[in-house]
Amino acid sequence: MKSFTSSLGLLAAFITATQAGLRFPCSTLTNQRLDPAAQPGALPSAHLHMIVGGNAFNATMEGDVASRATCTTCQMAEDFSNYWVAHMYFKDPKNGTYHRVMPQPVQPLLGGSNGAQGGLTIYYTQFDLSRDNLKQQPIKAFPPGFRMTVGSPTVTSKQHAGLSYQCITGGNRGSLLSTFPTGKCNGGIFTTHHFPPCWDGKNLDSPDHQSHMFDTVKSEYFDNAPACPSSHPVRVPQVTFEITWETTKFADLWNPSTDANPFVWSFEGTAAGTHADYMFGWKGDALQRAMDKSECFYDGCGSIKKQQMTEANKCTVKDFVKENIDGWQKFLPGMGGANANANMKVKKSFTA
Ligand SMILES: *[C@@H]1O[C@H](CO)[C@@H](O)[C@H](O)[C@H]1NC(C)=O
Ligand SMILES: *[C@@H]1O[C@H](CO)[C@@H](O)[C@H](O)[C@H]1NC(C)=O
Repeated sequence: MKSFTSSLGLLAAFITATQAGLRFPCSTLTNQRLDPAAQPGALPSAHLHMIVGGNAFNATMEGDVASRATCTTCQMAEDFSNYWVAHMYFKDPKNGTYHRVMPQPVQPLLGGSNGAQGGLTIYYTQFDLSRDNLKQQPIKAFPPGFRMTVGSPTVTSKQHAGLSYQCITGGNRGSLLSTFPTGKCNGGIFTTHHFPPCWDGKNLDSPDHQSHMFDTVKSEYFDNAPACPSSHPVRVPQVTFEITWETTKFADLWNPSTDANPFVWSFEGTAAGTHADYMFGWKGDALQRAMDKSECFYDGCGSIKKQQMTEANKCTVKDFVKENIDGWQKFLPGMGGANANANMKVKKSFTA
């Protein structure tokens, strides 16, 4: 009963505090070793990703993604973008084998979005969660073909604000951490990725997939980021991913007082290497319309068409890579056996 009432308290606080910007769930589209932003054309890419969004997802993606997609796993039916992250794994401390940690929908889900499966929750905020401040700071939606990444699998210490972990206990997300929680979390591990809000206004991408953007994010929360510099003057929506990883089914398989932390990312790097990828794919001017709407409520922004999650869940892509990722595995996908050397080379040459 205690955890029930504290979850209700959290829900109530969340609803009243949150009124500006878009927030919606996207179910898992696929889990594959593909990375059209950081390793275009690679089939397979270096490590496994959990991917949500439109069905134009492929090893290579150029031009207007929305014109090729016919469905999306996102609640916003005009959003055919793709969003992806490395997959979380549990490494058994007793025998060293790996098992995928499944994502589960972030709670609370509002506005008819129940029924999401796995996946993540997406935010596009104009200023912060309670104000849009459009008169002072208009927001320009991304153009077709735009992509960006945040974070890097190769870094070993936290580079900037906006990439965090939380230990969910009793319905409470707990304090922000820059690494995996050290104890057991009976509600799972919560991860957040805030993308940079400033664009150079010219390039759809850059060699490292980050330098066409500038990161002024200083807060781990949904605060407005400080002003953009003249090199990257265009203010774009602040994109954020939230994911709850369902770690509780592994709770009996490790002992925090004697075992090393058993949670790892699919790239086998450190917690600091958490990263995320974005491929813009909204239909026509749908995202711009949402960002221009000053009374935009975060759950729908008035003019954006929503779909039932039961409909969203029907959207799929084919299995391009065809490798078994289920059950207990001796190696992370791409990290062992015959593939190991080839993939280690790839891993060194890219950032996300
Ligand atoms: C994926 O991309 C390849 C190469 O560009 C193309 O031939 C293929 O039709 C695409 N597949 C899907 C399902 O979009
Ligand atoms: C490793 O441990 C897990 C969890 O106890 C078990 O399910 C799995 O079968 C074990 N794998 C091997 C190769 O022993």
